Amino acid sequence: MQIVNVNDIHKSYIKNSETIKGVSFNVGDGEIYGLLGPNGAGKTTLMLMISTLLEPTSGSIFINGLDSRRDALEIHKHISFLTTEIKLDPQSTPNKLFDFFAELYDIPKESIPGRKTVLFETFGITPFADRMIKELSTGMKQKVSIAISLIHDPKVIIFDEPTNGLDILTSRQVTDYLKRLRSEGHSIILSTHIFSVAQELCDRIGVLVDGKIVAEGSAEELINMTGEPGFEEAFLKLYMENHKE
Ligand SMILES: Nc1ncnc2c1ncn2[C@@H]1O[C@H](COP(=O)(O)OP(=O)(O)OP(=O)(O)O)[C@@H](O)[C@H]1O
Ligand SMILES: [Mg+2]
Repeated sequence: MQIVNVNDIHKSYIKNSETIKGVSFNVGDGEIYGLLGPNGAGKTTLMLMISTLLEPTSGSIFINGLDSRRDALEIHKHISFLTTEIKLDPQSTPNKLFDFFAELYDIPKESIPGRKTVLFETFGITPFADRMIKELSTGMKQKVSIAISLIHDPKVIIFDEPTNGLDILTSRQVTDYLKRLRSEGHSIILSTHIFSVAQELCDRIGVLVDGKIVAEGSAEELINMTGEPGFEEAFLKLYMENHKE
C-alpha cells in the first residue's frame, strides 16, 4: 500500500523562479525511499513540504490518506521529521528532553521509561542521559535528536541527512535502526550525500536535479539504466545529462 503520495509538487520561494518543478513519487509500507541530489537541488524543500512545515505552491501531498494542507495536525501524530537544523536546548539533558517531548506527544506516563530505555540503549545514549546537551559531541547530539524524533513511534519517518557528521560506527547504528523500522512496516524518506548509505539502505532512489526527479529506481536499476560501472558514476551521468546552467 502507498503511504506517502507526492503529486506534481511545485514550489517557488520567489516570484518567477521555481525551486521544485513538478515532483511526484510514492512511498509504500516498509519501504525506504532516498532523495539523492547535489546541494541546492531541493531535497530539504521537498522534505519540509512532506512534513507539512512548508506549503507547496501547487500540487498535493497525502500521508496515510491525510492531506498535508488540510490535516497537518493529524499528520504530525504519524510522522517524524529530522533536519540538520534542529537544535536541542544546550542547557537541557537527554533525559529531560525525552520526558518533555514524550508529554508533548501524549505518550502514556507508564510507557515512557520503557520507550526511553529502548531508544537510549539502541543509540548508546544511556551513559550520557544526564549530561548537559552542550557537553555532548556532535554525533551524540544527532543521536539524541533521532531518539527524540522517534518517541511517538511514527509510521512515516522523514530524515534529512540523518548520518551527516557521524562516524562510520555511529552511522551504522542509525542505518541498522532504520532497517529495523522498515522491517516493522514503517515508511522512510531520507536524503543523503553518502552514496554507500543510499546504495545500501534505499529500496528506491529518486535522483533530484534542479528541482526535478530525473530518474528513479534501486541503485542497481540506476546503474543499469545509465550503463555505468558503478553507482557514483551513474549519478554523475544523470546529473550531467540533466543539469542546465
Ligand atoms: N527560504 C528560502 N527562501 C528562498 N530560497 C530558498 C529558501 N530555502 C531554500 N531556498 C533555495 O532553494 C533551493 C533548494 O534548497 P534546498 O535547501 O531544498 O536544497 P537541498 O537539496 O536540500 O541542498 P543541500 O544538499 O545543500 O542540503 C536552493 O537554491 C536554495 O537557495
Ligand atoms: Mg538540504
